[in-house]
Amino acid sequence: MKTILITGAASGIGLATARRMAAHMQVVIADRNYEAAVLAADEIKTNGGQAFPVAVDVSVASSVARMTQEVAGSVGEVHALFCNAGISPKKPFEDWSEADWDSVIHTHIKGVFLCTQAFLPQMCNRKEGAIVTSGSDYSIVGHVHGSGYAAAKAGIYSLTKSIALEFAPYNIRCNSVGPGPIETPLIRKAMNDEQWARHKSQRGERVPMGRMGKPEEVASVVDFLVSDRAAYITGQIIHPNGGCVMW
Ligand SMILES: NC(=O)c1ccc[n+]([C@@H]2O[C@H](COP(=O)([O-])OP(=O)(O)OC[C@H]3O[C@@H](n4cnc5c(N)ncnc54)[C@H](O)[C@@H]3O)[C@@H](O)[C@H]2O)c1
Repeated sequence: MKTILITGAASGIGLATARRMAAHMQVVIADRNYEAAVLAADEIKTNGGQAFPVAVDVSVASSVARMTQEVAGSVGEVHALFCNAGISPKKPFEDWSEADWDSVIHTHIKGVFLCTQAFLPQMCNRKEGAIVTSGSDYSIVGHVHGSGYAAAKAGIYSLTKSIALEFAPYNIRCNSVGPGPIETPLIRKAMNDEQWARHKSQRGERVPMGRMGKPEEVASVVDFLVSDRAAYITGQIIHPNGGCVMW
């Protein structure tokens, strides 16, 4: 059975993707929230899948190196990678501190750089591999109060294309999934049920399809991009976004 490693797999889109991929792949649940990663892996194993939790902070090279070693020793080769871990701080542009900026850029762009660099050598040796990064509609259109996030997501999309070009001769594909507004803890943050219901309704009104998306509706796109059905697709960004951004 082939293995996919998903960063940020303990919550939201990553967790939905881990649940879906577990139907046909072994899943490494890599997250900085190790307790939640263990819970996610336990749930997948209870439902008959194979899952392995591992702690990582994708923004720190030594942490990614430790994770890579642990996975090599305990699970073996990684055939597919979903670089999904992310954070989404929001504040007016003038209030962004250097620490805020570094945190969002390091989690997103540096995280993709470190994780892809860690697993590309074994994919090159096998002459086979599929990588999916996490972009966003904001990669394309920018984000009020989320300037660092949008810049990071645009950087991820650029990095995705460079990796796609450089590793296409090795039969390694690298694509990005660029969701619109999806119902996850990243968006809900500390909202209570009433606030969340109001937010979903108001946010949904601005989506051509009239609603926010579900994490499972992103997971299905990742599944497609990893699969042989996407064997001739590389360097692309696909937006499960209900029609929010078309370009
Ligand atoms: N929810 C949306 O509307 C939306 C839209 C577009 C893009 N995205 C992107 O999708 C990805 C997943 O978002 P989500 O909505 O599922 O969020 P989420 O908060 O539900 O899950 C994110 C996960 O990433 C983990 N994480 C954060 N920083 C990490 C780090 N440095 N190292 C390891 N793990 C880390 C968290 O612990 C969490 O489990 C993110 O990259 C996000 O930017 C989300």
